[in-house]
Amino acid sequence: MRMVDVITKKRNGHALTKEEIYHFVEGYTKGSIPDYQASALLMAIFYQGMTEQETATLTQAMVDSGETIDLSSITGHKVDKHSTGGVGDKTTFIVGPLVASVGVPVAKMSGRGLGHTGGTLDKLESIKGFHIEMSEQQFVNQVNNVKLAVAGQTGNLAPADKKLYALRDVTATVDSIPLIAGSIMSKKLASGADSIVLDVKTGSGAFMKTLEESESLAKEMVNIGKNLGRNTVAIISDMNQPLGFEVGNANEVKEAVEVLRGEKISDLRSLSLELAAHMTVLAEVMTDYDQAYRALEENLDNGKAFEVFRSFVVAQGGDVEMIDHLDLLPSAKYQVEVKAETDGYVSAIDAESIGIAAMYLGAGRATKDDAINHGVGITLKKKIGDPVKVGETIVVLHSDEDSPTDSINRVKQAYSFTKENVDPKTLIYKVIK
Ligand code: URA
Repeated sequence: MRMVDVITKKRNGHALTKEEIYHFVEGYTKGSIPDYQASALLMAIFYQGMTEQETATLTQAMVDSGETIDLSSITGHKVDKHSTGGVGDKTTFIVGPLVASVGVPVAKMSGRGLGHTGGTLDKLESIKGFHIEMSEQQFVNQVNNVKLAVAGQTGNLAPADKKLYALRDVTATVDSIPLIAGSIMSKKLASGADSIVLDVKTGSGAFMKTLEESESLAKEMVNIGKNLGRNTVAIISDMNQPLGFEVGNANEVKEAVEVLRGEKISDLRSLSLELAAHMTVLAEVMTDYDQAYRALEENLDNGKAFEVFRSFVVAQGGDVEMIDHLDLLPSAKYQVEVKAETDGYVSAIDAESIGIAAMYLGAGRATKDDAINHGVGITLKKKIGDPVKVGETIVVLHSDEDSPTDSINRVKQAYSFTKENVDPKTLIYKVIK
């Protein structure tokens, strides 16, 4: 097969066969197909798109390019949750122990943060001693014992995606729905879960800025799951402002623990319950969504989910004293208040700018080799719809500098105000099954 014929076929708008897609993915991973031909095909896909069948085949070919994790020795139906990335998104810390508390095993592989969104592993490492490296056997044992384990991505999962993603990044072909969907799903499928719940974020702080784009991505990923034999549900949730009130590493662990202790932090609690209820139904632990939601709510309020979180922290070497006494978590030297300069109502909070402000403080990485400062972060005192008066604090920056000018300016730019009453944002726009 000649690669030039595959490129021509896609350029002319035709669907590729399984053999052609595998020829491309295998050849590029092994190095027999050069970057320039792979780039040309990616650009042709960017313009011509892919059918549902082609996207599923591309995803399977990327899964087959490397190892897959075998979770078969974990008892029960394993359900994974994946978020397309947002600011202040700490739902994993709530959803994981919550579904585990009703008997759903959670074997989660997570990543580190880059750019304006934080990474689950970085946040967990705010807890002294917490380790995210473990052998496959330790991982499986922990899920069997505690029902929850979160580990760094190990082994050689979907190496084709890694190589293709790097190429897409420099050839203006990242934002193609079939390529994004295939990329995300290839890593989820290689991680071995039986079913998957996707939290597709939409809005200013998300990868997909419009509801339309988010819905297309969600549908594409749900179709891939179905075509490849994994039940998949996608929730489209709001990222037009950060989720909850805390952004940063220790800050986010703290807020998640507060929800696990039954505090009613509304958007964070609601989204976590919704994701968890879908996971519980997919895991076939309960058949009815409303029944699942009520049982999970009960386990948030009676402390059972919090107990699972404590056991999980202990199992991964973390200092549980820090969870019982949240003021022991890393903190910053200064609390810098940013005040409102106008009266009115908060009409918008650009989540991406808040994420960037947190990154400037040291909570995130601008490049992959940057170190993380676990104690710095941002507390939002006002969210969309809240009334404000001149001089009132809108945000507190937890900073190791006494005057973090770049972050202050970013936060000020992120907030918009209006004189009229503003309706709070919808949290969950759609559920796609
Ligand atoms: N995240 C991924 O893993 N892949 C993409 O293509 C985009 C976002």
